[in-house]
Formats: sequence, C-alpha cells, structure tokens
Amino acid sequence: MEKTAFYTVKQIPPEETYPVRHPVLRTGLPLATCEFDGDDAPTTFHIGVYIEGKLAGVVTILENAHSRFDEERQFQLRGMAVLEEFQKQGLGQVLVREAEKEVERRGGYFMWMNARKVAVRFYEKLGYIIDGDEFIIETVGPHYVMCKKWK
Ligand SMILES: CC(C)(COP(=O)(O)OP(=O)(O)OC[C@H]1O[C@@H](n2cnc3c(N)ncnc32)[C@H](O)[C@@H]1OP(=O)(O)O)[C@@H](O)C(=O)NCCC(=O)NCCS
Repeated sequence: MEKTAFYTVKQIPPEETYPVRHPVLRTGLPLATCEFDGDDAPTTFHIGVYIEGKLAGVVTILENAHSRFDEERQFQLRGMAVLEEFQKQGLGQVLVREAEKEVERRGGYFMWMNARKVAVRFYEKLGYIIDGDEFIIETVGPHYVMCKKWK
C-alpha cells in the first residue's frame, strides 16, 4: 500500500478527537462514551493528523503510571484511531512517533498502552512489547499491556 505523503499534525483539544474516536472506537455508542477520564488534565495532550485539511486520525497521551511498571515518569497512550478510509497509509505510525516526540519534549521516555489484541502487531512494528497476560476489557474485548522505553 502506498504511504501517505502529505499530512500535517497538530495538538488539538479533547473534543476535536470525538469525530474520529466515535466511528472507530465507540461505533454505535452514544457520543458521550467518547469522553475519557483525564482528557482535560493539564498533563494530557491530544494529537490530530490531517490529510488535505481533513482530520484523519487522533491519539491521546496521559501522564499516568501503571502499577506493573516502576519507571518514575510513565505516559499512557489512549484513543488511538485512524478513520477507516485513511487506514494502512502510515498515519497510525505518524501519530505514535509524534506522541513519542512530545513525551520526550516533556522529559519522558517510557510509554505504555492497553493494546487491543488486533492492534498488537501495529505497536510491535513501532518497538512496543507485550508485558503480561491477555486480559479482557468488557464491551471492547481482549487486550495486552504493551510498553516501550526508548532511552
Ligand atoms: C490500529 C490503527 C490505529 C493503525 O493505524 P494505520 O494508520 O492503519 O496504521 P499504519 O498504516 O501506520 O500501519 C503501520 C504498520 O502497522 C501495520 N498494521 C496496522 N494495523 C495493523 C493491524 N491491525 N494488524 C497488523 N498490522 C497492522 C501496517 O500494515 C503497517 O505495516 P508496514 O509498515 O509493514 O506496512 C488503525 O488501524 C485503527 O484505527 N484501527 C481501529 C482502532 C484500533 O484498533 N485502535 C487501537 C486501539 S489499541
């Protein structure tokens, strides 16, 4: 598949993620389910990727520690979503790499996520590894905790 050549990325307010979160991650559920705990926290940031001015994908990063890790500063990746029509063109990778850059600007170098089983390969290609056993998130399905330390 040809990779998308022309894209722009920028930080966006939480509610601007909803038009992507909703169809991709909360299909058929009320719009209110697109709001995540911590979306408005001062340490949280949201990134959007645009193709020809149209929002195509989003990701959210929270400064949030998982009890299984002992790194002092831990960032959690959440709400990773690319609209179906824009998937498999490299935009997901763009979003994760931009998130890592911003984490690094904030003095961090450790990120983790609850990865949907279907997305594990996607994160592995970006250097993330599975940590622990499969677990189920009700209404969403099987997940793994994945993480990456890059310094
Ligand atoms: C998972 C998702 C964010 C990936 O975004 P994307 O823009 O399609 O991914 P990219 O095009 O950047 O893919 C990067 C690489 O990962 C691979 N990849 C992407 N999604 C994959 C998947 N579900 N399974 C296996 N490999 C995958 C691509 O083939 C590509 O590999 P390559 O570099 O060898 O060609 C997107 O498919 C999506 O929104 N899915 C539905 C929601 C979801 O599952 N979100 C994750 C929740 S944890």
